[in-house]
Amino acid sequence: MSQTTLTQETALEALKKVKYPGLSRDIVSFGFVQDLNVGGGNVSFRLSLTSGTPGVAEQLQAECEAALRALPGVSSVTIKVEVKGPQPVTAAAPPQKDLLNGTRFIVAVASGKGGVGKSTVAANLALSLTRLGYRVGLMDSDIYGPSQQMMMGIQEKPFLNEDEKIMPIARFGVNVMSIGFLMDVDTPVIWRGPMVYKAVEQLLGDVAWGQQDFLIVDLPPGTGDAQLTLTQKVQLSGAVIVTTPQDVALIDARKGLAMFRQVNVPVLGIIENMSFYECPKCHHKEHIFKSGGGQKTADLLGVPFLGGIPIDPQVALSGDAGMPIVAANPSSVVTEAFMNLARGVAKTVGA
Ligand SMILES: Nc1ncnc2c1ncn2[C@@H]1O[C@H](COP(=O)(O)OP(=O)(O)O)[C@@H](O)[C@H]1O
Ligand SMILES: [Mg+2]
Repeated sequence: MSQTTLTQETALEALKKVKYPGLSRDIVSFGFVQDLNVGGGNVSFRLSLTSGTPGVAEQLQAECEAALRALPGVSSVTIKVEVKGPQPVTAAAPPQKDLLNGTRFIVAVASGKGGVGKSTVAANLALSLTRLGYRVGLMDSDIYGPSQQMMMGIQEKPFLNEDEKIMPIARFGVNVMSIGFLMDVDTPVIWRGPMVYKAVEQLLGDVAWGQQDFLIVDLPPGTGDAQLTLTQKVQLSGAVIVTTPQDVALIDARKGLAMFRQVNVPVLGIIENMSFYECPKCHHKEHIFKSGGGQKTADLLGVPFLGGIPIDPQVALSGDAGMPIVAANPSSVVTEAFMNLARGVAKTVGA
């Protein structure tokens, strides 16, 4: 640090180095630091947290204190910790105040890494839920690679209604809104925390979602700003974690699980995609990678196992062609697996 005088700015700069545990974003940008006061070597502020996850407040308090004490001229640090947000939830809770107040259940589809079939699962889960008679929205918040426009066969851009809200685009009975509508497909975007925050906020608040039973959210892979923004803005009913049978994928799934636990979002269960190959002729099930990984992880972490989705070239072909398999081949083995997943999710949230 080049400055030697202690000011509000230098204190704030130091606090910006403190990240929320497990996430890439700092506590200042989250707005957790309030009423910062600097005077005569004394620094005081309120650490106003939105989640009462055990251990987090203590850890942040210690890190803030260390960061401030490392500054020249600091003689005392006073931190008042308060937790204002949702307390740990165990069952489905209603969405927050005015955001998405017409939505009964918000379910995030997450994965530790990309390419495991998260978007495929999100799209087909949404379609399966409509087949069960629910009103369903699908929100693609994958900043790194939004794919619901392609998977749901959407070429057009949405319109605004008379209230200046974005109208989701209806496909296969599902109302679709994508972060891809807000960005230019050919220009790679380098997303910084506040941009992600704004974009996710817009997808939640500026869209005419209307009355719906489910909003399925296709999250970016990993544990980042979009995930945290979502958990801060609305009360998620829970997250479904998609994994594949390989061990490496399971390690990532565990990380995702830990993140949701930390922000008090119930994990509804683990789903193993590309789980096995079922021969269309003899119905023999071949576990191409290895079997039982998803179930084992679920058992180990004490969350439900929501089942396996077979690997089937038709899934990829129909996804690329803009018609998810549940619509393209309603009587296939894969569709049945997605219907089972939908029943499991509906049952778990109490729909
Ligand atoms: N069960 C499956 N069988 C065959 N291909 C699949 C299956 N699930 C996903 N895929 C294909 O794998 C690729 C990655 O899936 P995608 O849903 O885009 O993953 P993610 O959203 O996790 O990055 C896509 O080409 C998709 O069509
Ligand atoms: Mg995807």
